[in-house]
Amino acid sequence: MSRFWVEKVTELQPYVPGEQPATGSVVKLNTNEHALSPSDAVMAAISAVQGEQLRRYPDPAASGLCDAIAAVEGLTAACVFPGNGSDEVLAHLWFAFLSGRTVCTLDTTYGFYPVWAKLYGSQLVEVPVLEDFSVDIGALGQSHDAIVLANPNAPTGLALRRADIESLVASNRDRLVIIDEAYYGFGAESAAPLVADYDNLMISRSLSKSHALAGMRVGYALAHPDLIEGLNRVKDSFNSYPLDAVAQAAATAAISDAEWFEQASQAVAQSRAQLTEGLGSLGFQVLPSMANFVFTRHPEVGGEALFAALRQEGVLVRRWSKPRIGDWLRITVGSGEQNERLLTSVAQFLKNQ
Ligand SMILES: Cc1ncc(COP(=O)(O)O)c(C=O)c1O
Repeated sequence: MSRFWVEKVTELQPYVPGEQPATGSVVKLNTNEHALSPSDAVMAAISAVQGEQLRRYPDPAASGLCDAIAAVEGLTAACVFPGNGSDEVLAHLWFAFLSGRTVCTLDTTYGFYPVWAKLYGSQLVEVPVLEDFSVDIGALGQSHDAIVLANPNAPTGLALRRADIESLVASNRDRLVIIDEAYYGFGAESAAPLVADYDNLMISRSLSKSHALAGMRVGYALAHPDLIEGLNRVKDSFNSYPLDAVAQAAATAAISDAEWFEQASQAVAQSRAQLTEGLGSLGFQVLPSMANFVFTRHPEVGGEALFAALRQEGVLVRRWSKPRIGDWLRITVGSGEQNERLLTSVAQFLKNQ
Protein backbone atom coordinates (compact mmCIF):
# COMPACT_ATOMS: atom_id res chain seq x y z
CA MET A 1 0.00 0.00 0.00
CA SER A 2 1.35 3.40 -0.91
CA ARG A 3 -0.19 6.84 -0.65
CA PHE A 4 0.24 7.09 -4.43
CA TRP A 5 -2.23 4.31 -5.18
CA VAL A 6 -5.42 5.47 -6.81
CA GLU A 7 -8.63 4.37 -5.12
CA LYS A 8 -9.39 1.72 -7.72
CA VAL A 9 -6.08 -0.05 -7.03
CA THR A 10 -6.73 0.00 -3.28
CA GLU A 11 -10.03 -1.74 -3.92
CA LEU A 12 -8.71 -4.40 -6.33
CA GLN A 13 -9.10 -8.03 -5.28
CA PRO A 14 -6.57 -9.73 -7.55
CA TYR A 15 -6.77 -13.35 -8.67
CA VAL A 16 -4.30 -15.61 -6.88
CA PRO A 17 -2.79 -18.19 -9.25
CA GLY A 18 -1.57 -21.62 -8.15
CA GLU A 19 1.89 -21.80 -6.64
CA GLN A 20 4.88 -22.02 -9.06
CA PRO A 21 7.66 -23.44 -6.84
CA ALA A 22 11.26 -22.70 -7.76
CA THR A 23 12.40 -26.25 -7.01
CA GLY A 24 11.85 -28.94 -9.62
CA SER A 25 11.66 -31.76 -7.10
CA VAL A 26 7.95 -31.41 -6.27
CA VAL A 27 5.16 -33.33 -7.98
CA LYS A 28 3.39 -30.36 -9.48
CA LEU A 29 -0.28 -31.14 -10.05
CA ASN A 30 -1.73 -27.75 -9.05
CA THR A 31 -2.03 -25.55 -12.16
CA ASN A 32 -3.21 -27.90 -14.90
CA GLU A 33 -0.11 -27.75 -17.04
CA HIS A 34 0.04 -30.48 -19.69
CA ALA A 35 1.52 -33.84 -18.67
CA LEU A 36 3.69 -33.97 -21.82
CA SER A 37 6.31 -31.67 -23.33
CA PRO A 38 5.29 -29.57 -26.34
CA SER A 39 5.62 -30.90 -29.89
CA ASP A 40 9.12 -31.17 -31.44
CA ALA A 41 7.85 -28.82 -34.16
CA VAL A 42 7.37 -26.15 -31.48
CA MET A 43 10.91 -26.54 -30.18
CA ALA A 44 12.26 -26.40 -33.76
CA ALA A 45 10.25 -23.25 -34.49
CA ILE A 46 11.64 -21.57 -31.39
CA SER A 47 15.21 -22.51 -32.35
CA ALA A 48 14.67 -21.13 -35.85
CA VAL A 49 13.81 -17.63 -34.62
CA GLN A 50 16.42 -15.21 -35.98
CA GLY A 51 18.03 -12.30 -34.17
CA GLU A 52 16.50 -10.02 -36.79
CA GLN A 53 13.03 -11.13 -35.67
CA LEU A 54 13.91 -10.08 -32.13
CA ARG A 55 15.43 -6.76 -33.19
CA ARG A 56 12.20 -5.80 -34.91
CA TYR A 57 8.75 -5.52 -33.35
CA PRO A 58 6.63 -8.59 -33.99
CA ASP A 59 3.59 -8.67 -36.29
CA PRO A 60 1.01 -6.81 -34.14
CA ALA A 61 -1.83 -8.94 -35.53
CA ALA A 62 0.04 -12.29 -35.33
CA SER A 63 -1.36 -12.96 -38.81
CA GLY A 64 0.45 -16.27 -39.37
CA LEU A 65 -0.99 -17.64 -36.14
CA CYS A 66 -4.50 -16.38 -36.97
CA ASP A 67 -4.29 -18.05 -40.39
CA ALA A 68 -3.18 -21.35 -38.82
CA ILE A 69 -6.02 -21.27 -36.25
CA ALA A 70 -8.58 -20.27 -38.90
CA ALA A 71 -7.46 -23.17 -41.13
CA VAL A 72 -7.90 -25.71 -38.33
CA GLU A 73 -11.31 -24.31 -37.31
CA GLY A 74 -12.68 -23.84 -40.84
CA LEU A 75 -13.17 -20.10 -40.23
CA THR A 76 -11.63 -16.95 -41.71
CA ALA A 77 -8.76 -15.21 -39.94
CA ALA A 78 -11.16 -12.29 -39.27
CA CYS A 79 -12.88 -14.59 -36.74
CA VAL A 80 -9.69 -15.04 -34.68
CA PHE A 81 -8.22 -12.82 -31.97
CA PRO A 82 -4.91 -13.96 -30.45
CA GLY A 83 -3.69 -12.81 -27.05
CA ASN A 84 -1.05 -13.20 -24.37
CA GLY A 85 -2.72 -16.19 -22.70
CA SER A 86 -6.47 -16.65 -22.59
CA ASP A 87 -6.54 -14.60 -19.40
CA GLU A 88 -5.59 -11.58 -21.47
CA VAL A 89 -8.17 -12.47 -24.12
CA LEU A 90 -10.84 -12.80 -21.40
CA ALA A 91 -9.78 -9.54 -19.75
CA HIS A 92 -10.07 -7.70 -23.07
CA LEU A 93 -13.42 -9.24 -23.90
CA TRP A 94 -14.67 -8.35 -20.44
CA PHE A 95 -13.63 -4.74 -21.02
CA ALA A 96 -15.06 -4.65 -24.55
CA PHE A 97 -18.44 -6.32 -24.01
CA LEU A 98 -19.17 -6.72 -20.29
CA SER A 99 -18.04 -3.45 -18.66
CA GLY A 100 -20.86 -2.03 -16.56
CA ARG A 101 -23.23 -4.82 -17.64
CA THR A 102 -25.07 -7.59 -15.81
CA VAL A 103 -23.23 -10.85 -16.36
CA CYS A 104 -24.55 -14.30 -15.52
CA THR A 105 -22.12 -17.05 -14.58
CA LEU A 106 -21.99 -19.97 -12.12
CA ASP A 107 -21.24 -19.92 -8.39
CA THR A 108 -18.63 -22.64 -8.86
CA THR A 109 -16.38 -21.68 -11.73
CA TYR A 110 -13.15 -19.92 -12.72
CA GLY A 111 -12.06 -17.55 -9.94
CA PHE A 112 -10.92 -14.83 -12.34
CA TYR A 113 -14.47 -13.93 -13.45
CA PRO A 114 -15.35 -12.04 -10.22
CA VAL A 115 -12.01 -10.20 -10.45
CA TRP A 116 -12.76 -8.87 -13.94
CA ALA A 117 -16.36 -8.14 -12.95
CA LYS A 118 -15.12 -5.91 -10.14
CA LEU A 119 -12.36 -4.36 -12.25
CA TYR A 120 -14.74 -3.45 -15.06
CA GLY A 121 -17.81 -2.62 -12.98
CA SER A 122 -20.04 -5.52 -14.05
CA GLN A 123 -22.75 -6.89 -11.85
CA LEU A 124 -22.06 -10.61 -11.57
CA VAL A 125 -25.03 -12.92 -11.03
CA GLU A 126 -23.73 -16.31 -9.89
CA VAL A 127 -26.25 -19.06 -10.56
CA PRO A 128 -25.66 -22.05 -8.24
CA VAL A 129 -24.58 -25.29 -9.85
CA LEU A 130 -26.74 -28.26 -8.83
CA GLU A 131 -25.91 -30.60 -5.96
CA ASP A 132 -23.87 -32.85 -8.28
CA PHE A 133 -22.12 -29.76 -9.75
CA SER A 134 -23.98 -30.07 -13.05
CA VAL A 135 -25.50 -26.99 -14.69
CA ASP A 136 -29.19 -26.25 -15.22
CA ILE A 137 -28.97 -24.50 -18.59
CA GLY A 138 -32.58 -23.33 -18.24
CA ALA A 139 -31.67 -21.31 -15.15
CA LEU A 140 -29.17 -19.15 -17.07
CA GLY A 141 -29.58 -15.94 -18.89
CA GLN A 142 -33.17 -14.86 -18.32
CA SER A 143 -32.51 -11.20 -17.57
CA HIS A 144 -28.80 -10.53 -17.97
CA ASP A 145 -26.79 -8.77 -20.64
CA ALA A 146 -24.37 -11.66 -21.09
CA ILE A 147 -23.55 -15.21 -19.99
CA VAL A 148 -20.04 -16.50 -19.23
CA LEU A 149 -19.44 -20.23 -18.86
CA ALA A 150 -16.29 -22.30 -18.73
CA ASN A 151 -16.70 -25.53 -20.69
CA PRO A 152 -15.46 -27.89 -19.37
CA ASN A 153 -16.10 -26.05 -16.14
CA ALA A 154 -13.29 -25.33 -13.70
CA PRO A 155 -12.68 -26.67 -11.15
CA THR A 156 -15.24 -29.46 -11.67
CA GLY A 157 -14.13 -30.70 -15.11
CA LEU A 158 -17.77 -31.33 -16.06
CA ALA A 159 -18.67 -30.50 -19.65
CA LEU A 160 -21.84 -29.33 -21.36
CA ARG A 161 -22.89 -30.80 -24.71
CA ARG A 162 -22.64 -28.62 -27.79
CA ALA A 163 -26.39 -29.04 -28.28
CA ASP A 164 -27.01 -27.47 -24.85
CA ILE A 165 -24.73 -24.56 -25.65
CA GLU A 166 -26.43 -24.08 -29.00
CA SER A 167 -29.85 -23.94 -27.34
CA LEU A 168 -28.50 -21.32 -24.90
CA VAL A 169 -26.98 -19.23 -27.71
CA ALA A 170 -30.04 -19.61 -29.94
CA SER A 171 -32.49 -18.59 -27.23
CA ASN A 172 -30.41 -15.54 -26.23
CA ARG A 173 -29.74 -13.87 -29.57
CA ASP A 174 -29.56 -10.43 -27.95
CA ARG A 175 -27.18 -11.54 -25.22
CA LEU A 176 -23.53 -12.32 -25.69
CA VAL A 177 -22.65 -15.88 -24.69
CA ILE A 178 -18.99 -16.41 -23.84
CA ILE A 179 -17.68 -19.96 -23.63
CA ASP A 180 -14.27 -20.27 -22.00
CA GLU A 181 -12.74 -23.39 -23.55
CA ALA A 182 -9.43 -23.21 -21.67
CA TYR A 183 -9.65 -27.00 -21.30
CA TYR A 184 -10.39 -27.66 -24.93
CA GLY A 185 -8.91 -30.82 -26.42
CA PHE A 186 -9.40 -33.33 -23.63
CA GLY A 187 -12.73 -34.82 -24.68
CA ALA A 188 -15.39 -32.09 -24.40
CA GLU A 189 -17.41 -31.00 -27.42
CA SER A 190 -16.32 -27.56 -28.59
CA ALA A 191 -18.80 -24.83 -29.49
CA ALA A 192 -16.44 -23.60 -32.26
CA PRO A 193 -18.58 -25.05 -35.09
CA LEU A 194 -21.37 -22.67 -33.97
CA VAL A 195 -19.31 -19.51 -34.47
CA ALA A 196 -20.18 -19.24 -38.17
CA ASP A 197 -23.92 -19.30 -37.38
CA TYR A 198 -24.22 -17.09 -34.29
CA ASP A 199 -22.97 -13.50 -33.92
CA ASN A 200 -23.68 -13.59 -30.17
CA LEU A 201 -21.19 -16.35 -29.38
CA MET A 202 -17.56 -15.88 -28.42
CA ILE A 203 -15.17 -18.69 -27.53
CA SER A 204 -11.88 -18.30 -25.75
CA ARG A 205 -9.15 -20.91 -25.87
CA SER A 206 -5.75 -21.42 -24.30
CA LEU A 207 -2.63 -23.09 -25.65
CA SER A 208 -1.45 -23.44 -22.05
CA LYS A 209 -3.30 -26.70 -21.55
CA SER A 210 -4.19 -28.15 -24.96
CA HIS A 211 -0.74 -27.59 -26.48
CA ALA A 212 1.53 -27.75 -23.42
CA LEU A 213 2.54 -24.10 -23.81
CA ALA A 214 1.70 -22.54 -20.43
CA GLY A 215 5.16 -20.96 -20.33
CA MET A 216 4.63 -19.29 -23.70
CA ARG A 217 1.39 -17.44 -22.83
CA VAL A 218 -0.84 -17.77 -25.88
CA GLY A 219 -4.61 -17.86 -26.09
CA TYR A 220 -7.22 -16.79 -28.63
CA ALA A 221 -10.86 -15.96 -29.18
CA LEU A 222 -13.13 -17.20 -31.97
CA ALA A 223 -16.16 -15.10 -32.89
CA HIS A 224 -17.98 -13.10 -35.56
CA PRO A 225 -15.62 -10.52 -37.18
CA ASP A 226 -17.57 -7.59 -35.65
CA LEU A 227 -16.87 -8.93 -32.15
CA ILE A 228 -13.21 -9.54 -33.05
CA GLU A 229 -12.97 -5.94 -34.25
CA GLY A 230 -14.15 -4.81 -30.79
CA LEU A 231 -11.40 -6.89 -29.19
CA ASN A 232 -8.78 -5.41 -31.50
CA ARG A 233 -9.87 -1.90 -30.52
CA VAL A 234 -9.28 -2.79 -26.86
CA LYS A 235 -6.00 -4.56 -27.56
CA ASP A 236 -4.67 -1.59 -29.50
CA SER A 237 -5.58 0.65 -26.58
CA PHE A 238 -3.46 -1.41 -24.16
CA ASN A 239 -0.56 -3.01 -26.04
CA SER A 240 -0.20 -3.35 -29.80
CA TYR A 241 2.23 -6.27 -29.56
CA PRO A 242 0.93 -8.71 -26.94
CA LEU A 243 2.45 -11.76 -28.65
CA ASP A 244 6.21 -11.69 -29.07
CA ALA A 245 7.99 -13.16 -32.10
CA VAL A 246 8.97 -16.36 -30.28
CA ALA A 247 5.43 -16.97 -29.01
CA GLN A 248 3.99 -16.41 -32.48
CA ALA A 249 6.42 -18.91 -34.02
CA ALA A 250 5.85 -21.49 -31.28
CA ALA A 251 2.07 -21.19 -31.26
CA THR A 252 1.81 -21.37 -35.07
CA ALA A 253 3.90 -24.56 -35.07
CA ALA A 254 1.82 -26.01 -32.22
CA ILE A 255 -1.52 -25.33 -33.91
CA SER A 256 -0.21 -26.78 -37.18
CA ASP A 257 0.93 -30.06 -35.60
CA ALA A 258 -2.37 -31.93 -35.62
CA GLU A 259 -0.69 -35.28 -35.01
CA TRP A 260 0.93 -34.17 -31.73
CA PHE A 261 -2.36 -32.66 -30.56
CA GLU A 262 -4.27 -35.85 -31.27
CA GLN A 263 -1.73 -38.12 -29.58
CA ALA A 264 -1.15 -35.86 -26.59
CA SER A 265 -4.87 -35.45 -25.95
CA GLN A 266 -5.31 -39.22 -26.03
CA ALA A 267 -2.37 -39.70 -23.66
CA VAL A 268 -3.94 -37.27 -21.17
CA ALA A 269 -7.33 -38.99 -21.45
CA GLN A 270 -5.65 -42.35 -20.73
CA SER A 271 -3.71 -40.97 -17.80
CA ARG A 272 -6.91 -39.33 -16.49
CA ALA A 273 -8.68 -42.69 -16.57
CA GLN A 274 -5.81 -44.27 -14.59
CA LEU A 275 -5.81 -41.47 -12.03
CA THR A 276 -9.60 -41.65 -11.68
CA GLU A 277 -9.45 -45.40 -11.19
CA GLY A 278 -6.61 -45.13 -8.66
CA LEU A 279 -8.46 -42.51 -6.61
CA GLY A 280 -11.68 -44.51 -6.88
CA SER A 281 -9.98 -47.61 -5.50
CA LEU A 282 -8.85 -45.52 -2.49
CA GLY A 283 -12.49 -44.60 -1.80
CA PHE A 284 -12.57 -41.17 -3.49
CA GLN A 285 -15.51 -39.70 -5.34
CA VAL A 286 -14.21 -38.36 -8.66
CA LEU A 287 -16.36 -36.23 -10.97
CA PRO A 288 -16.36 -37.39 -14.60
CA SER A 289 -13.82 -34.95 -16.07
CA MET A 290 -13.41 -33.77 -19.65
CA ALA A 291 -10.37 -31.69 -18.71
CA ASN A 292 -6.73 -32.40 -17.83
CA PHE A 293 -7.58 -32.43 -14.12
CA VAL A 294 -9.96 -34.25 -11.82
CA PHE A 295 -12.09 -32.86 -9.00
CA THR A 296 -12.29 -35.27 -6.12
CA ARG A 297 -13.04 -35.76 -2.44
CA HIS A 298 -12.88 -38.54 0.08
CA PRO A 299 -16.09 -39.02 2.09
CA GLU A 300 -14.19 -39.51 5.35
CA VAL A 301 -11.31 -37.08 5.00
CA GLY A 302 -11.30 -33.28 5.19
CA GLY A 303 -9.88 -31.54 2.13
CA GLU A 304 -7.71 -29.18 4.16
CA ALA A 305 -5.89 -31.97 6.02
CA LEU A 306 -5.27 -33.99 2.87
CA PHE A 307 -4.09 -30.92 0.96
CA ALA A 308 -1.62 -30.08 3.75
CA ALA A 309 -0.36 -33.67 4.05
CA LEU A 310 0.28 -33.88 0.31
CA ARG A 311 2.11 -30.57 0.36
CA GLN A 312 4.29 -31.89 3.15
CA GLU A 313 5.18 -34.81 0.87
CA GLY A 314 6.06 -32.44 -1.97
CA VAL A 315 2.87 -33.15 -3.92
CA LEU A 316 1.11 -29.92 -4.94
CA VAL A 317 -2.60 -29.95 -5.78
CA ARG A 318 -5.22 -27.17 -5.63
CA ARG A 319 -7.90 -26.52 -3.04
CA TRP A 320 -10.23 -23.60 -2.32
CA SER A 321 -11.52 -22.70 1.17
CA LYS A 322 -15.05 -22.15 -0.06
CA PRO A 323 -18.25 -23.49 1.50
CA ARG A 324 -19.32 -25.93 -1.21
CA ILE A 325 -15.94 -27.17 -2.32
CA GLY A 326 -13.68 -26.98 0.74
CA ASP A 327 -13.41 -30.76 0.97
CA TRP A 328 -12.61 -31.19 -2.70
CA LEU A 329 -9.19 -31.21 -4.34
CA ARG A 330 -8.45 -30.35 -7.95
CA ILE A 331 -5.66 -32.57 -9.18
CA THR A 332 -3.95 -32.08 -12.54
CA VAL A 333 -3.60 -35.23 -14.62
CA GLY A 334 0.13 -35.88 -14.52
CA SER A 335 2.43 -38.40 -16.15
CA GLY A 336 1.98 -42.03 -15.04
CA GLU A 337 4.86 -41.58 -12.61
CA GLN A 338 3.46 -38.36 -11.12
CA ASN A 339 0.02 -39.94 -10.70
CA GLU A 340 1.64 -42.89 -8.92
CA ARG A 341 3.52 -40.60 -6.55
CA LEU A 342 0.30 -38.78 -5.75
CA LEU A 343 -1.62 -42.01 -5.18
CA THR A 344 1.15 -43.42 -2.96
CA SER A 345 1.13 -40.26 -0.81
CA VAL A 346 -2.66 -40.30 -0.60
CA ALA A 347 -2.70 -44.00 0.38
CA GLN A 348 -0.09 -43.33 3.06
CA PHE A 349 -2.17 -40.47 4.44
CA LEU A 350 -5.30 -42.62 4.58
CA LYS A 351 -3.38 -45.39 6.37
CA ASN A 352 -2.27 -42.95 9.05
CA GLN A 353 -5.86 -41.80 9.81
C1 LIG B 1 -11.20 -21.75 -16.86
C2 LIG B 1 -9.93 -21.08 -17.20
N1 LIG B 1 -9.92 -20.10 -18.09
C3 LIG B 1 -8.78 -19.46 -18.45
C4 LIG B 1 -7.58 -19.81 -17.90
C5 LIG B 1 -6.34 -19.04 -18.30
O1 LIG B 1 -5.47 -19.76 -19.07
P1 LIG B 1 -4.24 -19.07 -19.79
O2 LIG B 1 -4.20 -17.62 -19.40
O3 LIG B 1 -3.04 -19.82 -19.34
O4 LIG B 1 -4.47 -19.22 -21.26
C6 LIG B 1 -7.51 -20.83 -16.97
C7 LIG B 1 -6.23 -21.19 -16.35
O5 LIG B 1 -6.08 -21.98 -15.48
C8 LIG B 1 -8.72 -21.50 -16.60
O6 LIG B 1 -8.72 -22.47 -15.68
